[in-house]
Amino acid sequence: MRALVIGGGGREHALVWKLAQSSLVERVFCAPGNGGISRDAVCLPLREMSTTSVLQLVRENQIDLVVVGPEAPLVAGLVDDLQSQGVLVAGPAKAAAQLEGSKIHAKQFMQRHGIPTAEFVVCSDPHTAQQYANRWGGPAVVKADGLAAGKGVVVASNRAETEAALNSVLSGELVGAAGMQVVLEQCLIGEEVSFLVLTDGDSVLPMAPTQDHKRVGDGDTGSNTGGMGAYCNDSIISGTLTQRVMKQIVHPTLAGLRAEGTPFRGVLYCGLMITAEGPKVLEYNVRFGDPETQALLYRLDTDLAQVLHEIALGKLITPSLSWKPGASVCVVACAGGYPGSYATGKLITGLDAAETAGVKVFHSGTAMDKGRLVTTGGRVLGITASGADLATAARAAYSAAEKIQFDGMHYRTDIGKKGLERRRPLD
Ligand SMILES: Nc1ncnc2c1ncn2[C@@H]1O[C@H](COP(=O)(O)OP(=O)(O)O)[C@@H](O)[C@H]1O
Ligand SMILES: [Mg+2]
Repeated sequence: MRALVIGGGGREHALVWKLAQSSLVERVFCAPGNGGISRDAVCLPLREMSTTSVLQLVRENQIDLVVVGPEAPLVAGLVDDLQSQGVLVAGPAKAAAQLEGSKIHAKQFMQRHGIPTAEFVVCSDPHTAQQYANRWGGPAVVKADGLAAGKGVVVASNRAETEAALNSVLSGELVGAAGMQVVLEQCLIGEEVSFLVLTDGDSVLPMAPTQDHKRVGDGDTGSNTGGMGAYCNDSIISGTLTQRVMKQIVHPTLAGLRAEGTPFRGVLYCGLMITAEGPKVLEYNVRFGDPETQALLYRLDTDLAQVLHEIALGKLITPSLSWKPGASVCVVACAGGYPGSYATGKLITGLDAAETAGVKVFHSGTAMDKGRLVTTGGRVLGITASGADLATAARAAYSAAEKIQFDGMHYRTDIGKKGLERRRPLD
């Protein structure tokens, strides 16, 4: 089959790389792709992220399966549009994608279906919101309702911060129209885990758990980013906790979606907080996460094209996913200044030396410019390695990172450390 991946970041590079290994896949395309993706797939220009543009690519290139990477086109209904034209696509329909498109919708959905999540209220004026915040007292979390590319959430540690956050979101200053309404929620304490499942709406295949690292600095300090790294191994959470997540969160979510007439096909990402009272949902994403996907797919043994094809057909029959033993680690190398303003167009060197056996460098923000690979984004590369255990995988990723250079390059030096320090899985 001929597969087309929509998007152009590190997640899409990992998808392309994994799909290309399938014996079912004759050729992989990516639109728009990036400099690194162009080494593993045929990159197609995408004039705009619209159904018309994607359909044109599908027709011109006789695409058999479309895989959508980013959330915005899913929330806008690209899957519905493609399906109505007879195109096979692995991803949720617009109605199901609102679990990510609206945080208010997601919270009310969880409330309706008894899915554990932080207590919350919905507000659209700062005065009422502040009254709630005062009643709560201590820390609170302010979340813009709409899509905000990871910039719509403020974790406030006291009343003054909550007030400031409410004002900046509701005034439109922080994320514009996405913040016309907010969710104000209780601040949960615990460890975060990304729990992704592949589903056709009924059958479900849990993926291995992963942990993302959102803050720019070592030890989870500094500003929030799109993700500075991730790791994946089987000892992040216990088997008992996995079963509990499936029973209390994944199954009720899928059943709730079915009951509401919006069954979910694709990748459901449950962002969890493992609290003293058990796992609670921080948020849903309706697609693969970045950079969790780089770590996940580097460890996945199962043929992803087969699974996504079954999902697109609405008949998931693959019984389970298999994983390489050990662990994988993805370290994101960023441009100088990121997550603030940064320069682009910096020459990248050392990739050939870095990509030894057990190491793959997925590209997030790169382009080929007159035969040279240059930076185009804040997150530039996802240096990904596997190993017999987490320590070995992390060592391999960092030794590869040391071989790569571009002006201003920086990365966290502690990706996976939490896993290494954990004496036993979260339970
Ligand atoms: N209720 C909460 N308690 C504590 N931390 C939270 C809570 N909700 C969100 N966070 C923190 O904020 C981050 C971003 O929130 P999330 O709901 O995942 O939104 P988004 O990914 O859309 O920005 C989370 O990864 C988590 O670190
Ligand atoms: Mg999140």
